[in-house]
Amino acid sequence: MLKHVVVIHYSQTGQLTRAAKSLVQPMQTSGCKVSWINIEPITPYPFPWSLRKFFGVFPDSVLGITPPIKPIETELIKSADLVIIASQVWFLAPSLPIQAFFNAMKSEPQNPLRGKKIITLFACRNMWLKAFQLLKNMIFDTGALLIGNVALVDKSPMWASFIMTPRWLLTGKTNQLFGLFPSPGIKENQLADVEKIGTSLINRPSLHNIGFSSVEEKLILPEWIARSIFLFWAATILKIRQLDSRFENIFLTGFVVTLVLSILFLLPLILLSRMILRPFLKPYLNKIVLNLSSTTTGVSHV
Ligand SMILES: Cc1cc2nc3c(=O)[nH]c(=O)nc-3n(C[C@H](O)[C@H](O)[C@H](O)COP(=O)(O)O)c2cc1C
Repeated sequence: MLKHVVVIHYSQTGQLTRAAKSLVQPMQTSGCKVSWINIEPITPYPFPWSLRKFFGVFPDSVLGITPPIKPIETELIKSADLVIIASQVWFLAPSLPIQAFFNAMKSEPQNPLRGKKIITLFACRNMWLKAFQLLKNMIFDTGALLIGNVALVDKSPMWASFIMTPRWLLTGKTNQLFGLFPSPGIKENQLADVEKIGTSLINRPSLHNIGFSSVEEKLILPEWIARSIFLFWAATILKIRQLDSRFENIFLTGFVVTLVLSILFLLPLILLSRMILRPFLKPYLNKIVLNLSSTTTGVSHV
């Protein structure tokens, strides 16, 4: 039976906070103490974002160049018997505040996460696989034990969320458009499913075999290829920033153009090639799905 759960989180719009609240609600009702640790960057990220700031965090997110954050109450973490790490995805990586949290824990005399049971919770547009893999490595490095992952994604068609999520992030607007583009973000019925997962966690040691599965195999190739492209652009932009920061904007524009062209042309091509090459790629894709599913309980399809 759980006694003390600590939720470590950061959220700009409150979406991830709502998801985390749904997960811990049943635990709280059952008498478990729930503590919240809000990661606060010293210089807050804006919401809504300006285009410059939005793409400005791209190289840092991809390369793990983290911002300074306010001190974390590590004693709370030490006294927890379950830690929930709630992360959004920024450019296929855990968001910078979450990466900053892990960096801050590294400089503690003894990492407070060592030996702790951890559940990760994602709420994002729909590409979280690579970010989860990176987060898993960060958790592994602390000596903590990852016992499950819950992933919540926007259930709109991918083409719609590629328009509506940036619109939301850059303007703050969440209304649907022309009856064609649904409003972005996680919906209430998905949160109800997260509560069910929270209930099942009260008396279980892990999320294995609960019966949800959400690793979308079709997104593996696009994410893996996009991450390689991101790494190239992020490293190039960083180099330019160090040489002469006046030219950074030019290279960021180059990245944005590549991104838009990739979404329009490369992504459909990758999805099509995957269908054709599936028999040959299957063993490789299965291995990745297995690796990601081993700690994944998702509610993205329910
Ligand atoms: C800079 C930035 C980059 C993002 N990149 C991704 C991404 O690669 N994949 C994805 O599924 N969502 C992405 N998102 C959406 C976020 O994961 C998240 O859903 C959204 O920012 C709302 O989160 P919050 O209000 O809880 O912080 C991105 C958001 C931001 C601000």
